[in-house]
Amino acid sequence: MKINSICCLGAGYVGGPTMAMIASKCPHIQVTVADMNAQRVDAWNSDVLPVYEPGLDAVVASARGRNLHFTTEIRAAVAAADLIFVSVGTPTKSYGIGAGRAADLRYVESAARLIAEVSHGHKIIVEKSTIPVKTASAIKAILAANSSSEATFDVLSNPEFLAEGTAVADLENPDRILIGGELTPGGNAAVEALVSIYAQWIPRQRILTTNLWSSELSKLVANAFLAQRISSINSISALCEATGADVDEVASAIGMDSRIGPKFLKASVGFGGSCFQKDILNLVYLCESFGLPHVAEYWRQVVHLNDWQKSRFVEKIVRTLFNTVNNKRIAVLGFAFKKDTNDTRESPAIYVCRDLLREHAHLAIYDPRVSPDAIRNDLAHVGVSPELIATNVEISTNPYAAAAGAHALVTLTEWDEFRTLDLPRIYDLMLKPAFVFDGRAVLSNESLTALGFESFVIGKGQ
Ligand code: NAD
Ligand code: UGA
Repeated sequence: MKINSICCLGAGYVGGPTMAMIASKCPHIQVTVADMNAQRVDAWNSDVLPVYEPGLDAVVASARGRNLHFTTEIRAAVAAADLIFVSVGTPTKSYGIGAGRAADLRYVESAARLIAEVSHGHKIIVEKSTIPVKTASAIKAILAANSSSEATFDVLSNPEFLAEGTAVADLENPDRILIGGELTPGGNAAVEALVSIYAQWIPRQRILTTNLWSSELSKLVANAFLAQRISSINSISALCEATGADVDEVASAIGMDSRIGPKFLKASVGFGGSCFQKDILNLVYLCESFGLPHVAEYWRQVVHLNDWQKSRFVEKIVRTLFNTVNNKRIAVLGFAFKKDTNDTRESPAIYVCRDLLREHAHLAIYDPRVSPDAIRNDLAHVGVSPELIATNVEISTNPYAAAAGAHALVTLTEWDEFRTLDLPRIYDLMLKPAFVFDGRAVLSNESLTALGFESFVIGKGQ
């Protein structure tokens, strides 16, 4: 099976960068990314891409117009393709059965129905979105029931493991590529066709092939294990604060054990991002559906601990500021869910800011990449009233403007530029006592103390 033409449904954080990398590494394949969101497609075709990722501009520029195309002509793009990646959103369902836990598969289903409608001949359909185990069966059933008699399909699972902020490096040099397929001659040939695309730049031994269900499930399990490590270290951050231990020292000490490893042990105000919480809840729902309540409860705790970490941080701020933040200016540094991205989905900053606003604080928020509109929209989505946003939320253009006249400064994203802040200048600008709540441990605790700040750093005992 030779692949000459690829279509990707969904020009989001995954579809755009992933297809740009494939197009740049496989100049002989035409790659078209199709999305009904015209604004997003226009942005992909412009100089200001809709996704901020270090290095992405160059990858897109290397292929766009040559063999990389972004379009809203979804039907034509699907009809022309030999292989179709489905990279649409799979948010947590907010209504009906499984609300708050199950994955909402409506975009996946509509993509499958559209593919069935416009397809002739043979096509390989690749699940790139993160979906519940067994979704490939549903896709196959929809394709079979809605396509013309001469259309045939193979369905593969090929989950994406890139992290935002490092997407280009992750795509260029992934730990592994996972491809699941049916163990039939047709399934094997389809798997081999997809393997041969990745093999253009990834060593074969890092391309893992499995059955469909192992591949689908591995994606949820990988995210669950990663998030579990963060909740584990965050639980210990609270114990460190209570005992005088230092969570970074504890993380280094345990991380040197090669069985534990050093990565993903950075204590924080909580994990965010569009996927960890959604995918764990999805796993919880699957376990419940398969009659495994103990397993479901085990994983649910990872999310509970994360919620607690965010709320205890807010409580710490309010209690330290003499039990009231009413009308007090608080400088908030960072709104993105992690550094090097403009993505704010499920960012802990949203919830921390919401809860401070409920206490009637006046927030001056600075983030180097997140737009003022995005910040205001995010706060509105979690129930902050338009009036409160208008009167109590100020968007600052730099950290010093945010800190001027503030009672407290709070860090919520680990942007590198916060590590080199002019702390004496900040101190002079703030009201006294000048309180700092470092939710990402990006500021030097020694410098803060030496300068006279009253500081609280997540996971650092006094
Ligand atoms: P996103 O919301 O940024 O993008 C999804 C896009 O799909 C949207 O632009 C939407 O308009 C489009 N879309 C919906 N239905 C469509 C259809 N029928 N045809 C064409 N386009 C359609 O989402 P994302 O962050 O790119 O995530 C996509 C999937 O990848 C999710 O399942 C997510 O869990 C998974 N994932 C995300 C990341 C990440 O870092 N964001 C990493 C790994 C996996
Ligand atoms: C995560 C996974 O790392 C990817 O492998 C996966 O593909 C992706 O989810 C997905 O499925 O969407 P991402 O959410 O982009 O990637 O970013 P991470 O680097 O995993 O960070 C997630 C959150 O955890 C951030 O808020 C980050 O600040 C926080 N974090 C991370 C910590 O608090 N401590 C750490 O040690 C690491």
